[in-house]
Amino acid sequence: MKLLVTGGAGFIGSNFLHLLFAERSDWQVINVDLLTYAGNLENLTAIEQWENYRFVKADICDRDTLTFLFEAEKFDAIVNFAAESHVDRSILEPDIFVRTNVTGTHTLLELAKKWKVARFLQVSTDEVYGSLGDEGLFSETTPLAPNSPYSAAKTSADLFVRAYHHTFGMDTITTRCSNNYGPYQFPEKLIPLMIQNALEDKPLPVYGTGMNIRDWLQVEDHCRAILVALEHGKSGEVYNIGGNNEQPNIEIVKRILSILGKPESLIRYVPDRPGHDLRYGIDATKIRTELGWEPRHSFSTGLKATIDWYLSNRTWVQNVLTGNYRAYYDRQYTDRLAAGKP
Ligand code: NAD
Ligand code: TYD
Repeated sequence: MKLLVTGGAGFIGSNFLHLLFAERSDWQVINVDLLTYAGNLENLTAIEQWENYRFVKADICDRDTLTFLFEAEKFDAIVNFAAESHVDRSILEPDIFVRTNVTGTHTLLELAKKWKVARFLQVSTDEVYGSLGDEGLFSETTPLAPNSPYSAAKTSADLFVRAYHHTFGMDTITTRCSNNYGPYQFPEKLIPLMIQNALEDKPLPVYGTGMNIRDWLQVEDHCRAILVALEHGKSGEVYNIGGNNEQPNIEIVKRILSILGKPESLIRYVPDRPGHDLRYGIDATKIRTELGWEPRHSFSTGLKATIDWYLSNRTWVQNVLTGNYRAYYDRQYTDRLAAGKP
């Protein structure tokens, strides 16, 4: 197998590369990543000695550069993780989300078509389905109804993947996973942000009432689902991925504080995210029954292990808390925290 992984220096992509190194080290793997603020080669030091692996710094929108790569490498498959991935940033600056998530995916599809890549796996999200009320779950046939610029761009990419399968007969797979947690997650996302703030005794900004619900899955479980879909999924299909683990945000924040032995008085209820989706919940029956995937991690042990990882990797954390990140943090949180309530 000669595999192109895009976005492999990010959170989920790097965990996927660790899994391939452990279990598919005979594969030839090239990781194309632009190393944006979210891409970090320190996530990949453990696979540096993998002789079948190579890193290429490139933009998935840069068709000219990628043409040379596709011509030279003759990939068998592509797994596309590369994306702008944070909803709050998509509210502040949507343009880059359209560029990377839509144009980038389309560029890869065009190259895959031209160079006859046998399989294209698009790593998508449950957020394409919009928001649930109190009842029901997202299935693969739930209508697409994205609510944020992030999810609108991911949905557009999914529709291009669908169209290239339908029109050009390309072998595509789309996976739609719920919220991930685990090692190497950039601290802008809920769980690592709350861990970091709690460790620094800084206020923990909870949007709205804290009663928005997400369905949390440990990242290695997500990566195993992608691998099984890549190897055994049916062409043209969509597979939802989730662990039946819905939690209100405030529960997670309180659990983190309790594990770290920090007081709940650090919690600040801040003005809500605009357009904040109320609830995500995944029905993963299809991937479980058709491909035999099952999650291996429970949330309580997975969350504890994640907190331990952040505690034992303080240098990794300090290195990603750059001036750029601090500028984003101030822009996103200073006014909210000032308006927040205990
Ligand atoms: P991330 O932000 O941690 O990583 C994204 C990676 O893509 C980074 O390494 C970045 O440098 C790279 N990248 C960005 N723009 C690029 C470009 N133009 N060219 C090449 N590389 C570029 O994201 P993540 O959380 O690892 O998410 C990976 C994928 O999984 C995304 O497609 C996301 O939509 C999807 N997803 C994420 C979650 C989640 O909970 N994090 C859940 C479901 C699906
Ligand atoms: P996030 O990790 O950004 O993932 P997503 O928006 O893609 O689901 O947020 C998870 C939930 O946590 C979401 O309901 C928003 C909420 N949240 C906060 O309450 N405070 C925060 O500072 C962040 C980043 C998120």
